[in-house]
Amino acid sequence: MKNIAVFASGSGSNFQAILDAINNGSLEADIKLIVSDQKNAYAIERAKAAQIPQFVFTAKDYINKEEYEKEIVHELKKYGVEFIVLAGYMRLIGPTLLKEYEGRIVNIHPSLLPAFPGKDAIGQALAARVKVSGVTIHFVDEGMDTGPIIAQQAVSIEDCETRESLQRKIQAVEHKLYPEVLQKLFSASKEEEQWEKSVH
Ligand code: GRF
Repeated sequence: MKNIAVFASGSGSNFQAILDAINNGSLEADIKLIVSDQKNAYAIERAKAAQIPQFVFTAKDYINKEEYEKEIVHELKKYGVEFIVLAGYMRLIGPTLLKEYEGRIVNIHPSLLPAFPGKDAIGQALAARVKVSGVTIHFVDEGMDTGPIIAQQAVSIEDCETRESLQRKIQAVEHKLYPEVLQKLFSASKEEEQWEKSVH
C-alpha cells in the first residue's frame, strides 16, 4: 500500500476520483494528507468529509518558496508520505520538495503536452483552433509541465465545442486515467521492490 499526499488548489475533482478509486479497491494507496495553498479550496471540504488530514498554507506568509516547502516536507515526513500526486496544484514545485521526493512526484495536465503548458490549457487549445487536445500525466521536474511523460489520452474538439463542454470531456478522461495510471505506477514499483528483495 503506497502512502500518498495529494496537492490541490481548486475544486479537487481529481482528488475525489483518486479517493473513490481507493475506496472501491481499484487503486492500492492510502491518502495520508492533502496539501493546499488555498484555504477556500473545495478540495479541502472533500478531504474533511473523508476525514483526511489537511495541511493548508498561505504562500505570502513565508519569506520564500524554500521556507514553505520545508514545512510541507516536514508534514509529509510526519505522515509517512512516500509519493506526491499533484491534482490542480497551482504552484511550481521547488528544489526543496524535488530533492526530497525525486522521481516520486506526478502531475496531471489538461492538454497533450508539450502543447499548451501552463495556465488555461483548455482556453489555449480553443484559441489555437486545434481539433485534438487531451490529458497528460507526467513526472514533475523543475520546469512548468515539462517532466517525462507517463501517459496521454486524446480528446477530440468538435466545431461546436465550448469551454464548458471541452472541460467536461477532459475532466471525464482525467478522472478515469489518473487512478489507473497511479495503480500501474504503484504496482510496478511494488514488483521492483519484490524483485530486489529476491536477488539480495
Ligand atoms: C485539472 O483539469 C488538471 O488537469 C489541472 O487542474 C485541474 C484540476 O481540477 N492540473 P480539479 O481541482 O481536480 O477538479
